[in-house]
Amino acid sequence: MTHDSAASQHSASNAILDDDAFTPSPDSALWRRDFLLGAATASYQIEGAATEDGRLPSIWDTFSATPGKVLAGDTGAVACDHYHRWSGDLDLLKDLNFEAYRFSIAWPRVMDASGRPNPKGIAFYKRLLERLKEQGIQTFATLYHWDLPQHLEDRGGWLNRDTAYRFADYADLMSRELTGLVDAWMTLNEPWCSAYLGYGNGHHAPGLSNPRYPTQAMHHLLLGHGLATQVLRANDAKSAKGIVANVGRGTPNSQTPADITAARRFEVQHNAWILDPLLKGEYPAELFELWPGTEPLVLDGDMETIAAPLDFLGINYYFRTNVKSDGAHGYTEVPLPGVERTQMGWEVYPDGLRDLLVGFHDAYDNLPPIYITENGMASDDSVQDGEVVDAQRIAFLKRHLAAVDAAIKKGVDVRGYFVWSLLDNFEWAFGYERRFGVVHVDYDTQKRTKKRSAELIARFIAERNARDGG
Ligand code: FCB
Repeated sequence: MTHDSAASQHSASNAILDDDAFTPSPDSALWRRDFLLGAATASYQIEGAATEDGRLPSIWDTFSATPGKVLAGDTGAVACDHYHRWSGDLDLLKDLNFEAYRFSIAWPRVMDASGRPNPKGIAFYKRLLERLKEQGIQTFATLYHWDLPQHLEDRGGWLNRDTAYRFADYADLMSRELTGLVDAWMTLNEPWCSAYLGYGNGHHAPGLSNPRYPTQAMHHLLLGHGLATQVLRANDAKSAKGIVANVGRGTPNSQTPADITAARRFEVQHNAWILDPLLKGEYPAELFELWPGTEPLVLDGDMETIAAPLDFLGINYYFRTNVKSDGAHGYTEVPLPGVERTQMGWEVYPDGLRDLLVGFHDAYDNLPPIYITENGMASDDSVQDGEVVDAQRIAFLKRHLAAVDAAIKKGVDVRGYFVWSLLDNFEWAFGYERRFGVVHVDYDTQKRTKKRSAELIARFIAERNARDGG
């Protein structure tokens, strides 16, 4: 592209965007002051400082240092250097008018290998939370966003039942240390990814792939969630307790009964595998038709522990998957041609979010209030003349927020929405190439530049506050 055509394209997209401010329809639930608008991050993806102040190695340090596991050999050793730049990052969050911040605590930063507290690591999160409180930003803390201490993986990780008890010890320590500073605790982020990508196909740390592992790893993750929830309730009564599930929309490639079953099985594998134990106290029988012979070892009382009531459910949604029958018990993905996709290759499909929310509302009598704890998209953003015009993201966010509003209108109790992510960051197996932030990060200089999407969100929140009397 010549310089001229880049420049004219740039101003053309600016013009479109000025007409197209981030304004939901007048009857949208988004105008309600109590609908929280926040941004999300995770420790390993932004903090860096991987060996500082007594932080121990996590499975992601090991995995990303293994050649061939992460695109371009990227690691989280420096990431966004948030461990040192946290104060400026929180100023940015405030500047953008976000009302809530979802972040995660790095387990290997706050406990040593014998389970003793690491005061320096704990002090980091205390400072962070205290500043958020001063800023009047609601605090949503995830205990486990995938950075398992490596020493626990060396003893079997989530395949070892003991890890669930170690996780409860960690939750105990954090909730004693941080009581009063956290508005909402989330035990686990996306146990599906930990269990399936970590132990089933090896795409994520610890990189194991054995078809028998995911269901057992999932059981121990969910048990850890249940045990941790008990501890959080005992130590920090005022805060809300929840868990975050990534959910997937599966659609049938044709209306044949076999393809319809395939799409249902996709959703059993992605959604019911996690939500049924949490909300019904049992694993879905269909999961074991899809994966015969993989029933996990479940001890007496485990399912009651797992299914203890939640104050809220966090839902992360990104895309849909179109599937057909594989001729046996499973499904095969059939990518649809001609649809809009993101830098990840994920289809942009806002209706999937609405349909899943409404479907969960119908399927579970005891569905707790929901927060959309992640939604967003990656694009190949760059700074041009000091600006980042992320037109695809703006349209994406508007359409997904409209989908949330549509679900609310159908009776689903959705209390808020967090954009993934505040900053461009370490996108796991894809390293730094995929940019999910509403704020651009230049990894050479660590300079942050607000993208156009961030400015439009900030403008909308300010307008909402002004209408409501500030
Ligand atoms: C989710 C993860 C989050 C981020 C987004 C794009 O699965 O929870 O850390 O990587 O995907």
